[in-house]
Parts: sequence; structure tokens; C-alpha cells
Amino acid sequence: MTAVTIRLMIFAMRTTTTLILSFVLLVTAATAQQMSQDRAAKTLMPFKKALKQALLDGLAKGPVEAISACQVHAPEIAEGLSHDGIRVGRTSHRLRNPENRSPDWVRPILEDYLANQSDRIPRSVPLPEGRTGYVEPIVMQSLCLTCHGDPLAENVSAEIKRLYPEDEAVGFEVGELRGVFWLELPATGDAS
Ligand code: HEC
Repeated sequence: MTAVTIRLMIFAMRTTTTLILSFVLLVTAATAQQMSQDRAAKTLMPFKKALKQALLDGLAKGPVEAISACQVHAPEIAEGLSHDGIRVGRTSHRLRNPENRSPDWVRPILEDYLANQSDRIPRSVPLPEGRTGYVEPIVMQSLCLTCHGDPLAENVSAEIKRLYPEDEAVGFEVGELRGVFWLELPATGDAS
């Protein structure tokens, strides 16, 4: 074997090792990403369920009653689930309640969903201090038209204007992006 052949063999072995190591690192990173995404989706579930239940309970009494049920319960539910470094909320590009403004890291993702209307895939992103951000699109259903469609019943419209003078969340159509759920998780091990 000549010196050149040996050098070539060493080079080939090194390249292969580097390739294998990069692959392993990539797979590990993808698995970690998938795990935090699964954890986020699971943590968000009770928020979605509680909101839906509050809405349905409200609607059973009537649409105007349901508006105040949403007004009172939606922030309470979000607050109740925001503990141990977890933060959760809903936001939109057209807000009803200005207090539902998105955290800064959510905005570009929301803009992205708006630019690609066929993209409804949840996303997770790394945040500072090992935290994970997670975003899930909220799509308009026919149930939502009573309070976010067009036209609204007069009494519904009047109650919304009374409670939310700056409301921008009307005129949505079924299937349209209404906004997003967002969630922040602490680094694994900090809290459950
Ligand atoms: C009975 C009326 C009513 C119905 C029906 C309703 N909403 Fe709302 N929605 C509200 C009110 C009131 C608020 C403001 C809640 C608050 O103060 O945080 C709101 C807020 C929101 C927000 C938070 C962002 C913002 O604009 O402040 C989203 C997202 C949202 N609604 C989506 C939906 C979807 C999706 C449906 C259907 C599944 C739906 N809503 C059905 C009344 C309603």
C-alpha cells in the first residue's frame, strides 16, 4: 500500500465518521424537538377544552350571555393554566380584546400562517433560557360565526361593541385563520 492510498483511506474514514456523527446529532435534535412539541400539544389541550366548554355553556343560555362568559372565563382559564413557568394564551391579527396581544416571538409565526393559508401545522421554536414556544392555528368554524362572522345579530353586535369598543374580530369566514393558541414551556426538568 502506498502512502497516498493510506492517506486516502484515513481521509475516507474521517469523513465517514463525521457524517455518521452529524447524522446522529441531527436525529437527536429532531427527536428532542418532537418531544417538546408533543409535550406542548398535551399541555395546551386542557386550555382548548376549557375554553370550548365555557363557550358551549354560555351559548346554551344565549349568545349575549355567552359573550360575557367568554369575557370573564377566557382570561381566567389562561391564568389558571399559567404556572410553574408555563404561559398560555390566544391571540389574533384582528383582536377583540387588545389584552390578547401576542408575545413578540409569536408574531412572525402568525404572519407566516397568514401568508400561507394552506399551512395549518403547529410549530415549536426554541426560546431563550431553554424555554420552548409552541403555536397552533385557530380556524373559524360555523359555531364561531355568531360572534366573529358578518353580519352579527343586533343584540350580539351591541353587546360586543359595549364590552370591546376597539373590536376588530368580526367579518371572519368559516375556514379562515382566526388566530393562534400559543404556549411557553420551561426547560425540561425545571417544572412539569
Ligand atoms: C358568544 C360569542 C363568541 C363565540 C360564539 C365565539 N367567540 Fe371568540 N371571542 C368572544 C369574545 C367575547 C372574545 C374576547 C375574550 C376576551 O376578552 O379575552 C373572544 C376572543 C377570541 C379570541 C382571542 C383573540 C381576540 O380576538 O381577542 C379568539 C382566537 C377567538 N375568540 C376565537 C373563536 C373561535 C375559533 C370561535 C369558534 C369556535 C369563537 N371564538 C367563538 C366571543 C365569542
